[in-house]
Amino acid sequence: MTRFTPSMRKGVKFLALLTAMFVFAACAGDAELDTRSNLAGPEAQSIESFMRVLLWITYIVFAFVLAITVEAWRRFRIKGDDYEDDEFPAQIDHSKWEIVWTIVPALILVGVFVFTLGLHNQLNSSEENPISLVVGDGANVEWEPEIVVVGQQWWWEYQYHFGDVELTAQRIETLPDADITTATQMVIPVGTEIELEITSRDVIHSHWIPSLNGKRDAVPGRQSAPWKIQADEPGVFFGQCTEFCGLSHSRMRMQVIALPMAEFQEWVTAQMEGVELSPETAAYVADLAAGGTTAPEGTEQRAVDTFRTKCASCHVLDGVTNGIVSRPEEQLVSGAAPNLTHFGTRTTFAGGIVNVWDPDTGDFNRNQLGQWLRDPSSIKANFTEPVSEDDARLRGMPNLGLTAQEVDDLVGLLEMTGAPPTVDGDSEFLISETGVE
Ligand code: CUA
Repeated sequence: MTRFTPSMRKGVKFLALLTAMFVFAACAGDAELDTRSNLAGPEAQSIESFMRVLLWITYIVFAFVLAITVEAWRRFRIKGDDYEDDEFPAQIDHSKWEIVWTIVPALILVGVFVFTLGLHNQLNSSEENPISLVVGDGANVEWEPEIVVVGQQWWWEYQYHFGDVELTAQRIETLPDADITTATQMVIPVGTEIELEITSRDVIHSHWIPSLNGKRDAVPGRQSAPWKIQADEPGVFFGQCTEFCGLSHSRMRMQVIALPMAEFQEWVTAQMEGVELSPETAAYVADLAAGGTTAPEGTEQRAVDTFRTKCASCHVLDGVTNGIVSRPEEQLVSGAAPNLTHFGTRTTFAGGIVNVWDPDTGDFNRNQLGQWLRDPSSIKANFTEPVSEDDARLRGMPNLGLTAQEVDDLVGLLEMTGAPPTVDGDSEFLISETGVE
């Protein structure tokens, strides 16, 4: 009988600790991207049930193989080292067993394949379920809930088209202007199956809201087959880009906010309007849009002026950038920057990594927004180097060298762009739930 030497014991202890470390590293309380709990919709639940069955099959196979290995070792090992080479047993013919251990695993794999196919079909099927919405000028539309999801370095855009637009298999470049364009945050009604049409403007990304469904790639020049999500309860569901897409890939996050139908309708109504400016400032914008050169009066007009001169080449702010043809495609690799018209109704910005509203106080997050405007790369790495010698376009928000006054004015202007969505008139619930880790 061999005895363990002290160094062997040390080795075994080390291995046991290492294994425990890996096992426990997989445990987390209520992690944002947990795929086993906090599942809120039928798609995520189907994936989880499937995974559970699959895991049990692997447990059983693993235990069985381990048991056979140990038993074989116990039964057939040659004890000690008093044997001659020619004592090794001759090759024994076990054809029957060999057939069995080839067929059984094959049958297991076929079974798993059939189940996978079933789940795959289920996830890729969709039902027509138009919902009735009041949009814009009080017109009633039957909206087949579809949302266009566009990935770009390094944030997500969500487009809502209420008109009679064929979205499926259209390239992003050929789509008409959306009725609602939002960034980083997708708002959906509860209990409704939503179809996502996923694409990209630059490189491959992957859209993943684990509480609602699995991943689907966002591929430039191509639109995914529809991918559905559904949330059965109001709440906030986190997501993350899961295809490595460059420098700030890890900071390309998003949130889905599921609202009861009445609140969703309110959200839609608010999103269809521009920024609410004072009558004087609105007149000032109209004058500028008509080619006037009036000097700004007061903070609000100064802020509008700053936005139009410093931000409007990439960003849209309905009501403020009126009359400006912005050309982000000349500045940015992706050719798009977040539409900021309803910045204040969002919970996060900069790719879902900074709160718009402070989850502790509920106040507008002036400090971090100011920092973002002063020095974006101190918050999130942006690749603001030219792509090549003949292409000087940027990825992400550049440092515009704004003065302290300009930063203050812009923060004030963005604060006017709306309040966060509410559930039962209560926005605190959503703000605290959306808190960025
Ligand atoms: Cu987009 Cu990773």
